[in-house]
Amino acid sequence: MQTRVLTGITTTGTPHLGNYVGAVRPAIAASRRADVDAFFFMADYHALIKSDDPARIERSRLEIAATWLAAGLDPNKVTFYKQSDIPEIPELTWLLTCVTAKGLLNRAHAYKAAVDKNTETGEDPDAGITAGLYMYPVLMAADILAFDAKQVPVGRDQIQHIEMARDIGQRFNHIYGREFFVLPEAVIEEQVATLPGLDGRKMSKSYDNTIPLFAGGAKHLRETVMRIVTDSRTPGEPKDPDSSSLFTIFHAFASDAESAAFRRALEEGIGWGEAKQVLYERIEADVAPMRERYESLIARPAAIEEILREGARKARAIAAPKLAELRDAIGLRAMSSVTMHAGSARLPNKSIKSPRFASFRDTDGSFRFRLFSSEGDELLLSKSFKDPKAAGAVQKQMKTLGGTAATLHVLPRSLVLELDGEPVASTPDYVDESARDEALSYLREALDMLAAQEKEAS
Ligand code: TRP
Repeated sequence: MQTRVLTGITTTGTPHLGNYVGAVRPAIAASRRADVDAFFFMADYHALIKSDDPARIERSRLEIAATWLAAGLDPNKVTFYKQSDIPEIPELTWLLTCVTAKGLLNRAHAYKAAVDKNTETGEDPDAGITAGLYMYPVLMAADILAFDAKQVPVGRDQIQHIEMARDIGQRFNHIYGREFFVLPEAVIEEQVATLPGLDGRKMSKSYDNTIPLFAGGAKHLRETVMRIVTDSRTPGEPKDPDSSSLFTIFHAFASDAESAAFRRALEEGIGWGEAKQVLYERIEADVAPMRERYESLIARPAAIEEILREGARKARAIAAPKLAELRDAIGLRAMSSVTMHAGSARLPNKSIKSPRFASFRDTDGSFRFRLFSSEGDELLLSKSFKDPKAAGAVQKQMKTLGGTAATLHVLPRSLVLELDGEPVASTPDYVDESARDEALSYLREALDMLAAQEKEAS
């Protein structure tokens, strides 16, 4: 069994060394595991909350996609896409918005921090805060719930958002009475190194202390490494590796043996300038081959776009049937089923024909049955049963199920009915999703009618 693992990357900045070591590298390593079904996407709708600069949004998406591919992400093994290529995500965002307590969003850290800042400076509490920032957690919940992701690797600052996604998913499940959504868990990588930046604080764009990953090439990488702040010890004086950013960064790239050698060199008094040269060369050994791939990718944006579009196709093959199921469940059904509902309310009127089963013996000798609607359309064909009793028992169970309680697996062009986790019957293949959606309404309707009749009869 594979575990579905999903994470989004907000596309505002340009990837730096800290992003690579803390997020890109471990995520790609995890995505290679056979038991992981990994989803990675450019959270470009989230980026709009942070930036209204179109050029920056465009550039950052390209750089981040090229970085992940250059670092070894295999788009054939994982599902790699842009959030903005998946219309089901904003659609689900609205369905979730309608079950999300406003009070829950009031408690989101990012929103609260913005309000606190305004309050401190005597401004109106909501000054300069967009509804986008406020709704951020709901969009993120949709990102996750649309794909039934089980594990979501994130930084600590995102744990609250994953908890909110759980809350929101749970609330939807509760209101509409079924387990529509898998409830996600945050996964925090404890092993992963947080790199110090040029000034020794955590490497972060907001501290302006980052070392670029690819930008500016090897020359710029070297220049930036030379700017890492050190103490004033002169060459020949012993240096303390454990309080040196140089050592921490070196260790994030090097093997234990290499790190031990670097530790010794520092303790034996290597000059800071020389030590920085050693560090630069070690980083460059890892980065150079990736940079080469990065540059060739970024020169062909159309190829990157095509990779992401293909990823979106894979992702939508999951999200689209999911949304069809949700729309049906919340009552956004084909109008034709409304008339049927009016009919079922008058069910005791025997002049209305009812859905019926027709059993038959297949050419291989097995027993099967079909379910027809009251109009005589074929709704379901059962699987093969060895003996007629088993087929009969399944029919009997189906009669008591009711359309809402039935577990209907929605595939792009067909539906599968499950009993106790076993597929027992499926629809014919429909020409498209809207025909399938219509069939879904009819099928639920038919099951409801059977259940109502069964209840009346008992
Ligand atoms: N908010 C996340 C961040 O800033 C990015 C993100 C958007 C995300 N949607 C997601 C992460 C869904 C995990 C799952 O890091």
